[in-house]
Amino acid sequence: MSFTARTEIEPFRIKSVEPIGITSPAQRQAALKEAGLNIFNLKAEDVLIDLLTDSGTGAMSAAQWSAMMIGDESYAGSRSFYKYEGQIKKITGFKYVLPTHQGRSAENILFSAILKPDSIVPSNTHFDTTRANVELQGAEADDLLVAEGKQPMLEAPFKGNMDVARLEDLIKRVGRERIPVVMMTVTNNGGGGQPVSMANLREVSQVCRKYGIPFFIDACRFAENAMFIKRREAGYADKSPLEITQEMFSYADGATMSAKKDGLANIGGFLAMNDDHWIELCRNRMIPIEGFVTYGGLAGYDMEALAVGLEEVLDENYLNYRLNQTAYLGQKILDAGVPIVRPTGGHAVFIDAGAMLSHIPWNQYPGTALSAYLYEIAGIRSCEIGTVLFGLKNPDGSDAPAPNELLRLAIPRRMYTRSHMDYVAEAVAYAAEHKNEIHGLRFTYAAPVLRHFTARYEWIS
Ligand SMILES: Cc1ncc(COP(=O)(O)O)c(C=O)c1O
Repeated sequence: MSFTARTEIEPFRIKSVEPIGITSPAQRQAALKEAGLNIFNLKAEDVLIDLLTDSGTGAMSAAQWSAMMIGDESYAGSRSFYKYEGQIKKITGFKYVLPTHQGRSAENILFSAILKPDSIVPSNTHFDTTRANVELQGAEADDLLVAEGKQPMLEAPFKGNMDVARLEDLIKRVGRERIPVVMMTVTNNGGGGQPVSMANLREVSQVCRKYGIPFFIDACRFAENAMFIKRREAGYADKSPLEITQEMFSYADGATMSAKKDGLANIGGFLAMNDDHWIELCRNRMIPIEGFVTYGGLAGYDMEALAVGLEEVLDENYLNYRLNQTAYLGQKILDAGVPIVRPTGGHAVFIDAGAMLSHIPWNQYPGTALSAYLYEIAGIRSCEIGTVLFGLKNPDGSDAPAPNELLRLAIPRRMYTRSHMDYVAEAVAYAAEHKNEIHGLRFTYAAPVLRHFTARYEWIS
């Protein structure tokens, strides 16, 4: 006899719990009004299910909490640093590791050390902090995503890949000297959490080696990417996530990472590389910004939690649960007739709010309107990835539409159960059924840059 369950269960049991913000409709209406209809302005305690981001918001394991108790807080050369460094070297194989307090500081240290004002940094898609850190140096951030990655509804296995032909064209056109580094974001957060194939990593690496350009991975979600490779790419089904990860990094010369994602911890990051000269430059940049090279803005106990997290994240049971939970929510939302970016990525479901609320034009912000409505009816917090967030401009300075009006439901790691996902899907289905209740928005305040964080709105009735 063999029992094969149809029910997928969380591969953990719950040892410690935290109440979530159960509020009445009247309380939510008042909170939303106070927040100027911007979910970033809400107090977290007024949120029932918080899908604003998967960054630093997950639950740690008992093993991580217990490791924190033995954190070594020595200023220099702490035992906790060597554990953290050892785990990163095991996964990546890189020679040098600098701890940082999060991903953007690793990016800042790297780019400020190696870029010049006329540099160009190609990537599959730069995440917004990566782009900002490139542009802060006066350099240009170029996105070379494959064409299929730009079609939200297209089902394809590796929509995060880089267009290798365009990369080589760019190198030939502008010259190798202007491209100090090529980046690859795994998985591709800016493009819907879509994975990058091993074949693509290998090809990009070959082009970089041909022209002598260092190749770095933005590794925030490396383990989710490895699991997609195991599931979708021929030749990897029998390999462990660790083996796949090691092969992924073997094609690169270095990495930046926000360990607030696949480090399974609430804070942390690193910059790792092989180059003896660059590491000198980066160490010298790092000390005045982040702190000494063996703590980099982290407490010893943070590095303990991260060392354990970077091991736990490669557990196949965890990764199956992680990808399946995201796919489960995506499927339930699709079953309700609501369009989403397909296939679901690793860390989030992206609703095509522009298509769902086709009665709201792009310049009345359907994604933001849906985020406010979902909070109002169900206490769910989500994040618009559309015209408000991108803030694109026409040459005459007027607003331009984003490529898509999306609403991201990012799923914190090991935090919510299947019944929470059912609840979210039910609320989205209700919103779709009552879409005529959802109106467009207009700004009552918008900052000149990064307006989505602080904007205020009113409904257009
Ligand atoms: C792909 C990617 N790169 C870099 C970052 C920046 O990391 P941090 O928020 O830790 O600075 C993020 C954060 O969301 C990300 O998703």
